[in-house]
Amino acid sequence: MDITRDKAAMRRWVAERRGLRIGFVPTMGALHAGHLSLVERARPGCDRVVASVFVNPTQFGPHEDYERYPRDLARDADLLATAGCDLVFAPETAEMYAHDAQTTIDVGAMQTVLCGAARPGHFRGVATVVAKLFHLVQPAVAVFGQKDAQQVVILQRMVRDLDFPVELRVAPIVRDADGLALSSRNAYLGPDERHDALLLHAALQAAAAALRDGERAGERIAAAARAVLERGTFLRLDYVAAVDPASLAPLANVTGRVLIAVAAWVGSTRLIDNLVLDVRGTAVREVVLGE
Ligand code: PAJ
Repeated sequence: MDITRDKAAMRRWVAERRGLRIGFVPTMGALHAGHLSLVERARPGCDRVVASVFVNPTQFGPHEDYERYPRDLARDADLLATAGCDLVFAPETAEMYAHDAQTTIDVGAMQTVLCGAARPGHFRGVATVVAKLFHLVQPAVAVFGQKDAQQVVILQRMVRDLDFPVELRVAPIVRDADGLALSSRNAYLGPDERHDALLLHAALQAAAAALRDGERAGERIAAAARAVLERGTFLRLDYVAAVDPASLAPLANVTGRVLIAVAAWVGSTRLIDNLVLDVRGTAVREVVLGE
């Protein structure tokens, strides 16, 4: 497996493989089994798989964890090589962004809801870096995890609106045996905090149970989840909402697909989780976002 840290080499690597279909997995490193599942998902129909490892400063707010975000490129590269990746693109910040860069991608109203409300500028930073990476890597396929559901929905819209010739694939959330969604940020959690972190998954299960019991009012489904989250000692809820998975608008009544999304602080760690359910009459089925 090759590793490149500069854009010119990245472009050369792509140019030398003209006609081959590249599958692409963008990451910020600190890799876990969730990231590696994306590499698997990139392979079908692709001749090569490229991953990027770049802790993107423009998607972190001024008081967020950019400085302390875990970084270990040697470990990440080993994991990606074992997973069968062909190339890792891992630029330094100064390589990725000109010091006076000012052009960004405005992703519209969807960046102001859910996580966007607490993280102004976050999705502008995500969309901008993903657009840059798409230009450099020129993938036929790019894979994103449902773990970051709002990111998926916003990037699907960006690809459509700006005519990127890229097929987006969505990979299901990979969880620990106890239900906790894998996240690079789980490393920040102490043992007591981890106990509270499990409430996110439990809350989503409670919302699903309410739907299965026949509840269809979005606000009452969210309330079933909220009741579970209120049991936490270290947990401070940011939001829990039942929204339309295509528009992210709150659903007064669930008649088809619903994205139940939750974000909470556990101690000083911000965690997110979600569940997409398809409701047909009395049947309630878990599905992957966008499938
Ligand atoms: P990062 O948080 O490193 O995540 C990289 C990809 O892995 C994202 O698509 C994310 O949804 C996916 N992922 C994370 N945890 C997962 C899990 N438990 N199961 C399945 N997939 C999981 O998301 C980003 O980086 C950045 O915003 C990025 C897109 C790289 C732009 O900087």
